[in-house]
Formats: sequence, C-alpha cells, structure tokens
Amino acid sequence: MDFPKSTLLLVLLLVWAAPSLSSNEEDQAEAPDSDTRFGRYVPIENISDPHITAIAKFAVEEQGKKIGVGRQFVLTKVVSGEQQIVDGTNYHLVLLAALGNGFPKKYQTFVYESRQGEKELDSFDPILYP
Ligand SMILES: *[C@@H]1O[C@H](CO)[C@@H](O)[C@H](O)[C@H]1NC(C)=O
Repeated sequence: MDFPKSTLLLVLLLVWAAPSLSSNEEDQAEAPDSDTRFGRYVPIENISDPHITAIAKFAVEEQGKKIGVGRQFVLTKVVSGEQQIVDGTNYHLVLLAALGNGFPKKYQTFVYESRQGEKELDSFDPILYP
C-alpha cells in the first residue's frame, strides 16, 4: 500500500496538531491565573446588581424557613461578595439581615446557582467579629 507523500504528511500533521490544540484549551481552563473568572473566587464588582440582591434574598429566605421565622427574617443589605465560576456559580456574600424589627446583624452565606438558575443554600452563618 503506497500513499502519496503529501497525504502521509497531512495525516502526520493532523495527528500532531489535534492533541496539542485540545491540550492548550485544557491548560487555559485549568490554570488558575489564565482566566480570572474560572476556578477561584473573584470579588463582585457591583454589589447592587439585582442578580446579587436576588441571591442574597434567596439565602435569607431559606435561612428564615430553616430557623422557622419565615418572612420575619429579612435582608437589610449586601455588604460585599465574591463569586466562583464552576459548573454554575458559587456566591459567597456578606450581608446584613434582621429578625422582625430587630437590629441588623452580619452574616456570611454560600449559595450555589446552577447554570439553569436553580439556587441552593450551602451555608449561612453569623459573623461574630466586626
Ligand atoms: C450597579 O448596578 C446597578 C443596578 O443594575 C446600576 O444601577 C448601577 O449603575 C451599577 N453601578 C455600576 C458602578 O456599574
């Protein structure tokens, strides 16, 4: 079986090029510093983004249900936050929330949001130091 030389060269080129292209893509997705949005927490620039408010409200609502005070537990404001792109997004927010007419207290929460927009409260804890 004799192949023309040019065909052989083309095949060799494809075999050589294909894996190196795909491994380049992988390197970029996995290297922590090559894409600032993937793999590590980055600060949320605009904390008044309505989507961030919605995430914070969700966390406070879920926590209200969990501790059995329902709608009495309300978000006062989002203080700061960071987010991590995974398969979906992890949000780590610091917020103020108040029980009834009580004084707002500081909490930190982790919320996972899937790419389909389903939210899940991972943790909700008081911040005891200022
Ligand atoms: C932040 O988001 C709010 C609500 O979308 C918008 O009104 C405001 O202009 C934004 N601020 C900055 C600095 O982008």
